[in-house]
Amino acid sequence: MRVAVFISGNGSNLQAIIDATANKWLDIELVGVISNKNDALGLKRAEKAGIPTLALGNKKLSTFEEIAKKQLDEWQVDLLVLAGFMRVLSADFIDAFEGVMINIHPSLLPKYKGLHTHKRVLEAKDSLHGCSVHFVTSELDSGKVIAQNCFMISDEDTETSLATKISPLEHALLPRVIGWIAEHRFYIADNTLFLDGFPLKKPLTFFELAN
Ligand code: GRF
Repeated sequence: MRVAVFISGNGSNLQAIIDATANKWLDIELVGVISNKNDALGLKRAEKAGIPTLALGNKKLSTFEEIAKKQLDEWQVDLLVLAGFMRVLSADFIDAFEGVMINIHPSLLPKYKGLHTHKRVLEAKDSLHGCSVHFVTSELDSGKVIAQNCFMISDEDTETSLATKISPLEHALLPRVIGWIAEHRFYIADNTLFLDGFPLKKPLTFFELAN
């Protein structure tokens, strides 16, 4: 499976995918990385791993999408992964990749769509927090959730500590989901998420994915 990744910054989730492919347990071809920020650290991570990159900073959305789409076609991408990509894509672009575009989001969806998830989870005094990988649809963070990884929030947690705790959970989850998509275990058909040919009623947990 030929996979491209969109990033906006640090790219630690991209790094997790790079490491999983380098360690050979994730059998995909990482064909390219596109960033909407020219100074994204993730671009350096990709370059270091010998992966083609395209920096498309300071472009209006339609220009970004037009150039990105051309590049994705050229790379013959089968799966597009949004990993810390902080720009909202147009419905037209998303429609063109529906069923083959996933995103990692730092909350237990459907809770806390959008930004500032750590702040909002603390304000709500939730006891559980986590991350979700979902197929992307034109409604923000609302596509079918494939899998989630979660942890208990403690009384001492702050936005910063939650961000620190969630990171390794994301890094463990995302490459595994990509692996199962590459094995055609998860797919979308008729607006239903399937696992191994059966409709998936609720997102898988990390433990179900890892074992
Ligand atoms: C992650 O928490 C991701 O869920 C969110 O932005 C963060 C990006 O991290 N959308 P990185 O760029 O992969 O390090």
